[in-house]
Amino acid sequence: MMKMMMKLLLFLCGVLWVSADVLHEDLAIVGCSDSDGEMMYALDGEELWYADFKKGKGVDPQPPFVVHTSYREGVYEQAVANQQVCRSNLKVCRSAMKDIPDENDAPSNLVIYPRDEVELGEKNILVCHVSGFYPAPVNVSWTRNGQKVTEGTSINVPFPSKDSSFTQISRLDFVPQIGDIYSCSVEHLALKEPQTRTWDVEMNNPQSGPGPAIFCGVGLTVGLLGVAVGTFFLIKGNECS
Ligand SMILES: *[C@@H]1O[C@H](CO)[C@@H](O)[C@H](O)[C@H]1NC(C)=O
Repeated sequence: MMKMMMKLLLFLCGVLWVSADVLHEDLAIVGCSDSDGEMMYALDGEELWYADFKKGKGVDPQPPFVVHTSYREGVYEQAVANQQVCRSNLKVCRSAMKDIPDENDAPSNLVIYPRDEVELGEKNILVCHVSGFYPAPVNVSWTRNGQKVTEGTSINVPFPSKDSSFTQISRLDFVPQIGDIYSCSVEHLALKEPQTRTWDVEMNNPQSGPGPAIFCGVGLTVGLLGVAVGTFFLIKGNECS
C-alpha cells in the first residue's frame, strides 16, 4: 500500500493532466527523472505527439493514412520548458518526502510477435511489447541471427498504466526469411541481466514443418492409447483377483 502510494505521488509530480469523458480518453504526460524526460499527448491509448529530446523536435508518430492532428507552434519549446518545471517539482517532492527510496519494478511482461501474418519475403514488423515496469524507461535492443540490428528499429515513449507502471513498444522492420531467428532484449534498472525473448521465422511459419496440429494429433493418439492400455490392464487385473 505504502509502495503504491509513493509511486502514485511520484507519478503525480510528473503528470499534468488526465481528462476523461465518456467516449474518449485524452492524456497528456509530462514526466522526468534525473536522466530522462518525456512529454506526450495521447488519445485513447494512441500516441499523437511526443517530444524527442535527443533530436530536439516534436514527433507525430501516426502512420500517413491517419489524419494528422496539427499542434500549435512552439509546442516543442513548451515541452522543453515543462521539463524544467518537472525537474524542480521532482526536487520539491523529493525533499518533502525525505528522499523517497525509489521502488524499482522489473518488466512483468515481455512479448515478441509479428504485426502481420507471416509471409516469407513479405515486409513485416516485429513488435516487442514490454510492460509493468517502474520507473521508465527501458532500453530495447534487437538481434537477427545473433547479430545486433539497429536499422529499422524504433521505440515509443513510455506509456503510463493505471497501476502507475509503464509500457513501451519497440518495433523492428523485417522481411521474414526461412531460418532467421530474431531476439529483443530489454534492459531495466531493476534487472541485473537483460531479459530476452526470441522469435523464429520457421517456428512461426505455417507452411514450414508439420505445425501444431500434427503435434496435437500425435499427443491425442498417444494419450488415448495410454487410456486403452490402462483400461486393458485394469480389466485383466480384476479378472485375476
Ligand atoms: C540505456 O542505455 C543508456 C545508453 O547506453 C544507458 O546510459 C542507460 O543506463 C541504459 N538504461 C538502462 C535501464 O539500462
